[in-house]
Amino acid sequence: MDETVPHWTAGLSVDSYEPKEMSREEFQLLPRKQQKRIMKQEMWDRRADEFKEKQRQKNRDGRRRRKERVREGEIPPRRKAEDQARTGHRFVIDMDFDDKMDDREIKSICAQVQRCYAANRQAARCVDLHITQLHGRCRERFDTGLSQHAGWAVEHIKMEDKEYPDLFPLESLVYLTADSPNVIETLDETKVYIIGGLVDKNRYPRLTLDKAERQGIQHAQLPIGRYVQMSTRKIMTVNQIFEMLLRFIDVPDWKAAFLDVIPARKLDNE
Ligand SMILES: C[S@@+](CC[C@H](N)C(=O)[O-])C[C@H]1O[C@@H](n2cnc3c(N)ncnc32)[C@H](O)[C@@H]1O
Repeated sequence: MDETVPHWTAGLSVDSYEPKEMSREEFQLLPRKQQKRIMKQEMWDRRADEFKEKQRQKNRDGRRRRKERVREGEIPPRRKAEDQARTGHRFVIDMDFDDKMDDREIKSICAQVQRCYAANRQAARCVDLHITQLHGRCRERFDTGLSQHAGWAVEHIKMEDKEYPDLFPLESLVYLTADSPNVIETLDETKVYIIGGLVDKNRYPRLTLDKAERQGIQHAQLPIGRYVQMSTRKIMTVNQIFEMLLRFIDVPDWKAAFLDVIPARKLDNE
């Protein structure tokens, strides 16, 4: 029989395994397949705790090293939110699409929102960022696993239950979507630019364009094709789009903003 097991149970055998949740005798009475499943699950749980502790230690070390470097004058202390320069630009991440994603994609979109927050915090000049219609599994994830967001400064991110038409005049709204025939030239502080809070691996083409058209609001794509040649389609992730917009506000040069954010493997260098 093939006794190959995944790496986190490597070297272990069900014949000598000491289960956590039952006695060894009870374990031995179970079918072999079930014994393996239990052993894998329990070992995974133990490894997960070990892994989390390692990660926590790494973070503690990182914070300590950072403090030392600040003390030595190698790097400046972190800016307080109220000291960071701001622009009048406004952006929305539209979290309307909870039911269009599986659990992995929900995790991924929440991580992308976290990255947008971090990017806005680190930007030379930060913008007004609203996360709208936060509900369902994403809301749950932010309220439980990612509960540190309660401490996020509103200067960098605002988490809202409301939808964007309840927050801004319709005529100010521009939905950013790769499917739009319109191409944006620059960023206008009187407008509010919306990014679709979605990870869909191209399953739902035109989803945000159709939404914008139904709502009668403007829409546009970023001018990526005008400035860089890509080997793949010009559909970016939420945090990539947000980081490009921040870079453009800072520089302002679309080509530099795109080249700074688009991974080299996606660029066509032929
Ligand atoms: C992974 S895409 C989602 C694609 C989805 N099928 C849709 O209908 O928008 C995430 C979001 O990033 C933004 N986005 C991605 N690529 C873009 C581009 N080239 N121009 C403008 N916005 C883009 C859009 O707001 C989009 O909703």
